[in-house]
Amino acid sequence: MDASPVITIDGPAASGKSSVARLVARRLGYTYVNTGNMYRAMTWAVQNAGIDVSDSDAVRHQAGAVHLESPVVEGQTLVRVNGRVLTAEDLNADSVNRAVSFVARVPEVRDLLVAAQRDLTKLGPLVMEGRDIGSVVFPESAFKFYIDASEEVRSARRQAQGHADQVAERDRMDSTRKTSPLVVPDGAVTIDNSHITLDQAVDQVIAVLAEMGVASAVQ
Ligand code: DC
Repeated sequence: MDASPVITIDGPAASGKSSVARLVARRLGYTYVNTGNMYRAMTWAVQNAGIDVSDSDAVRHQAGAVHLESPVVEGQTLVRVNGRVLTAEDLNADSVNRAVSFVARVPEVRDLLVAAQRDLTKLGPLVMEGRDIGSVVFPESAFKFYIDASEEVRSARRQAQGHADQVAERDRMDSTRKTSPLVVPDGAVTIDNSHITLDQAVDQVIAVLAEMGVASAVQ
């Protein structure tokens, strides 16, 4: 039997990829997975244990002790850390925004989370969104997208969401780290949504998928 399909959606911070991915998943009737939240959950757990995130050895050691689960609620995975389901406030706290790129660059953290992400195919068809999903987690996927937007637009979106983190600095760290930097995956269809609406971006993804024979569950 063929493995369940995984639609991969990568892109920089505040590019709009989460909104696109969530709506694409809903249209297809697939489970939506936000892998940024898995890196955020790991960061929250490490910080909660009192670890200095710039100490990679301490992060690596602590990460191995974190019990991370992904329960599915209303078509999307949540993150449960050591028995506690993290809220949007936990995941998007300023302290997590500032620290997540330090935790995400530790190879052992990535190995743990990539394995957990691959394991989620047991849930059935997925739309999985992140930075390395088409390049590293599911490089063999036939359905890869890269959602982009200009730096000005991304900064403005983050400000509008009330997040004070420096989008450009986080992108710089995510793009230049040694392990699995943000890249446009081989074979990905790039959609720049700087000047189109969210619905138009979703329609473009759905149209590409329809041409490839992936049918929407909801019209
Ligand atoms: O998508 P996001 O902004 O919530 O992601 C938070 C951080 O997690 C981001 O700065 C980089 C990291 N990340 C990653 O390295 N690989 C992924 N697949 C997803 C996120």
